[in-house]
Amino acid sequence: MKPVKVGICGLGTVGGGTFNVLMRNADDIARRAGRTIEVVAIASRRENPACDTSDFNIINDVMAIARDPDIDIVVELIGGYEVARDLVMLAIEQGKHVVTANKALIAVHGNEIFAAANEKNVVVAFEAAVAGGIPIIKAIREGLAANKIKWLAGIINGTGNFIMTEMREKGRAFNDVLAEAQALGYAEADPTFDVEGIDAAHKLTILASIAYGIPLQFEKGYTEGISKITPEDVQYAEELGYRIKHLGISRHTEQGIELRVHPTLIPKSALLANVNGVMNAILVSGDAVGQTLYYGPGAGAEPTASAVVADLIDVARLLDTPSHGRVPPLAFQSHQLSETPV
Ligand code: HSE
Repeated sequence: MKPVKVGICGLGTVGGGTFNVLMRNADDIARRAGRTIEVVAIASRRENPACDTSDFNIINDVMAIARDPDIDIVVELIGGYEVARDLVMLAIEQGKHVVTANKALIAVHGNEIFAAANEKNVVVAFEAAVAGGIPIIKAIREGLAANKIKWLAGIINGTGNFIMTEMREKGRAFNDVLAEAQALGYAEADPTFDVEGIDAAHKLTILASIAYGIPLQFEKGYTEGISKITPEDVQYAEELGYRIKHLGISRHTEQGIELRVHPTLIPKSALLANVNGVMNAILVSGDAVGQTLYYGPGAGAEPTASAVVADLIDVARLLDTPSHGRVPPLAFQSHQLSETPV
């Protein structure tokens, strides 16, 4: 089969990781995809010393990748809302498939993006947008497809969990740990997204949309971060037999669907209380399966790249099928979320 041609937009932490995984595991990836996945273009405004792109002519203009007639799949890893939106919409308009790790983009502009993709019969895949390397989108959408999802709850921001863990275990100061999370490539470009709960709210919006088949409604959820938590709060919780964990929680109740992210006191013996560092974990409860748990690295170059490349393999494998394995639009219900949690 002829190779699938990929253009990577953005060569930061995730872009660099994606490039490295594609190069290192090229043979296995080609076997699994049924064809070679060939990186034919990279657009980036900065160098990434963690990856060797010396064989590539790196261009500045991401839009040129979306317009390049030679490219089948555009990989959007630039982050942010506006340029990323324009890039993805242009790629779709040009009939290209898109793989993105951008949760802000999907949570805020996803309804418009999926409508356009549907119209053009192209795939927009976004496994890497939620919980880094954990295949949670696939798990809910495919693995639990038989279920009515009753609720889900989880630690879905690695940076925040890393901060809370280091404060508790080592008594480190909030800002000191945040600086380390930034240096390790865990944090968002604007780390207030991590510490004020916005990143977790983006991810919860996406999870709820898939779990309940509802439109993306980022603005309707309740969002609170960890920035006001003091070392004393962490200590007192510990003394009382609890841990403070920042959770994303969603429940499908008779009154409607609830969506909230905030710090939570969890008994030390509970599973989620023992998820530490950059790890994420999500509990999902379905009416048929009962309670399930998904655990793994929630941020970082190669864990996130693992999900990006998995999406590339999925798209590549289904490229010649009539619907490209395109899943139905996210929303099959018109449920609106309530303005405040029930
Ligand atoms: N800043 C995010 C986090 C990156 O720490 O979870 C992964 O989405």
